[in-house]
Amino acid sequence: KKRILSGIQPSGDLTLGSYLGAIKNWAALADEYDCYYMLADMHTITVRQVPAELRRHTLTQVAAYIASGLDPEKNVLFVQSHVPAHAQLGWVLDCYTMFGELSRMTQFKDKSAKNADNINAGLFTYPALMAADILLYQADLVPVGGDQKQHVEICRDIATRFNGIYGDTFKLPDPYIPQVGARVMSLTSPEKKMSKSDKDPNGCVYMLEKPEDILRKFKKAVTDSEACVRFDPADKPGVSNLMQIYAVATGKSFETIEQEFAGHGYGDFKQAVGESVVELLRPIREETERLLADKSYLESVYRAGAEKAAYVANRTLNKVYKKVGFLPR
Ligand code: TYM
Repeated sequence: KKRILSGIQPSGDLTLGSYLGAIKNWAALADEYDCYYMLADMHTITVRQVPAELRRHTLTQVAAYIASGLDPEKNVLFVQSHVPAHAQLGWVLDCYTMFGELSRMTQFKDKSAKNADNINAGLFTYPALMAADILLYQADLVPVGGDQKQHVEICRDIATRFNGIYGDTFKLPDPYIPQVGARVMSLTSPEKKMSKSDKDPNGCVYMLEKPEDILRKFKKAVTDSEACVRFDPADKPGVSNLMQIYAVATGKSFETIEQEFAGHGYGDFKQAVGESVVELLRPIREETERLLADKSYLESVYRAGAEKAAYVANRTLNKVYKKVGFLPR
């Protein structure tokens, strides 16, 4: 079976963007692939976190993974910091990743502009740790949203460089990006991606948010003055973003959506999009809440996951240690 690895940072409440761009597509892959889904807590501390909040977000995210259809019997669900091989291979790959290539990463440029008082080394070498996450499992595919494509590309470059020096060690992974939903935009500034670090609370919808709050945010979503539901991301970014969300939530095509709302005002359209998202997320929110009431079950899931993940990861790590010339213990 081919292998998949992906991950999400437990840096806050999961957003509708992460759900549509990533998690929603993961559950369907379990039959065809060997799937490893991580909680990237080590990446999260590149930005300051409140420790108790990080713990809470991590546990909630384990529950949300399961509630989104990731059966822990069929998928390996684990926390990055529970598998030391990530830090260990991360260091090795730091030494095979160039200052220049890290400097070109758009996410580093964005995040260092936003966190000018904390441009730490971890924020800079973040893509090398992400490459370790992927390469440890010899993953074939990495299902992510469009914003992570550059990080999968640098992972391939690092792997190619290492393989070139030491012979075949790492499999080269391909990004797996959805056709629709790869870039969910902010509801209030549709030229920016929807993000939990957005300062405007109305721009971002959270996976576990209450229905009335979701509906209110969609009601306030920015559109335009044309009063026509038509897909045109360049001229109508707000409406096109809402169409994209509605398309993924309902499975309808853009043409069907255009016909459905021909002659209607944006009010009806925004209400319909909001309702479709509420219905999409409702079972996940309810199941997440149910799972969070049983912490010992969640613990058993991530402990078993770490054990399975470590077994695979250590095989790659041992190969790498040998190749670079570390003395065996
Ligand atoms: P993160 O935590 O920022 O985002 C998690 C996933 O959600 C996708 N995503 C979006 N997709 C569409 N529209 C949006 N507005 C949106 N916002 C987020 C992201 O593309 C991503 O797939 N570095 C990664 C985490 C990571 C990882 C890995 C991923 C660490 N190691 C190894 C894959 C493989 C990150 O910060 O994602």
